[in-house]
Amino acid sequence: MIAPVVSQAITQNQQDLIIYRPRSGISLQGQIKVPGDKSISHRALIFGALAQGETKIQGLLLGEDIISTANCMRSLGADISDLTASEILVRGRGLGQFPESSNILNAGNSGTTMRLLLGILAAQENHFYTLTGDRSLRSRPMSRVVKPLTQMGATIWGRQNNNLAPLAIKGKRLRPIHYHSPVASAQVKSCILLGGLMSEGQTTVTEPALSRDHSERMLQAFGADLDIDLQTKSVTITGGNNLQGIEVIVPGDISSAAFWLVAASIIPDSELVITDVGINPTRTGILDVLKLMGASITLENERTVAGEPIADLRVCYSSLNGCEIAGELTVRSIDEIPIIVVAAVFAKGTTVIKDAAELRVKECDRLAVIATQLSHMGAKITEHADGLEIQGGYPLAGTEVASHDDHRIAMSLAIAALGASGTTTIKEASAANISYPNFFESLQQICYA
Ligand code: S3P
Repeated sequence: MIAPVVSQAITQNQQDLIIYRPRSGISLQGQIKVPGDKSISHRALIFGALAQGETKIQGLLLGEDIISTANCMRSLGADISDLTASEILVRGRGLGQFPESSNILNAGNSGTTMRLLLGILAAQENHFYTLTGDRSLRSRPMSRVVKPLTQMGATIWGRQNNNLAPLAIKGKRLRPIHYHSPVASAQVKSCILLGGLMSEGQTTVTEPALSRDHSERMLQAFGADLDIDLQTKSVTITGGNNLQGIEVIVPGDISSAAFWLVAASIIPDSELVITDVGINPTRTGILDVLKLMGASITLENERTVAGEPIADLRVCYSSLNGCEIAGELTVRSIDEIPIIVVAAVFAKGTTVIKDAAELRVKECDRLAVIATQLSHMGAKITEHADGLEIQGGYPLAGTEVASHDDHRIAMSLAIAALGASGTTTIKEASAANISYPNFFESLQQICYA
């Protein structure tokens, strides 16, 4: 029998939600199809808009971040069909063909939209653009892309020494560079590759650890000339070649699947199958971490679809143990750290997370916020400059917690609430719509008494 666990909070803010855990307990059962991968969805729209001809996209994420990207690309003259359709059509404009926009381009909450767009706009010769975002995005560092784009010849203005949006940008004929990025960031890498695509000659990005490689895979499928050196963690693009529209099939987002992987692992008697999930090796840190912790996860029906590996993931309840997460494992699970902290709270022993300072400049300071909110529920978590130490096994009790308008914090707190006693109110729970519309409906559908 379905157990009612989710209800709208009766507060002034309609966006809050209550998670109620019945005394008799619950288990999670069933099959879930998670929405399309957020990183791949952004790139399908942006590269489609840059290409000549038509790009067909199946399985596009219809979350708020992707709507921001679609609106920006439309303001730049790309013809993008109605986002409610199951197949989206993009008629691109070709390289260097974006007119000035009479509107301020608004990237909303999306760092990927702003940073990738900057790479393209920097190369639109003599054209002037302005970009902004929501309160969170206006506080996130843009100098990580402004600096290399400036080296390539672009002119960009912003607050705090050209670091913070709103930004203004004057496009130029860009020079190719070899950039050694101080951070392992797919947004930085993709931004420079896009600038390089539109300049004459070879542009190389070298990163300290391999970040997600969706841009490389998809740019190659669109016909770009790329050379990837895994040994030196470098990617070289030869500029000047036009992209040609293709068909993109977007796999399910492993970052969204992560909430169900942890939920079923910590709630006794649970078994879930999550279908059609992307398992690109640059994104599967969550699977490796949960296996280290003793989770029971099997990959079924593995196949490759449109250049990306996918599988169905079967997860059963299992008692978890603490583990250490550092180095490239942190990079490969960077977006999943908040839900990994929830797993650690329910595990036996200590979990140590290191090399995760990047989390302080995501949609919120995710290290501080997840530690504080779970501590309100009874978790024992110590914060360090670049990570967290979690003493597992202390029971959680429901209380009022806040997502700080961060989608991944909202969903992580909901899973923690499922394993907590009593009732939890999640303030600003609707932030989940950024990457996972219908998350709470899906949560309700798999909860059995
Ligand atoms: C993303 C890259 C990552 C990730 C973000 C999406 C992308 O950020 O955290 O959610 O689509 O390129 P960084 O590139 O800043 O590490």
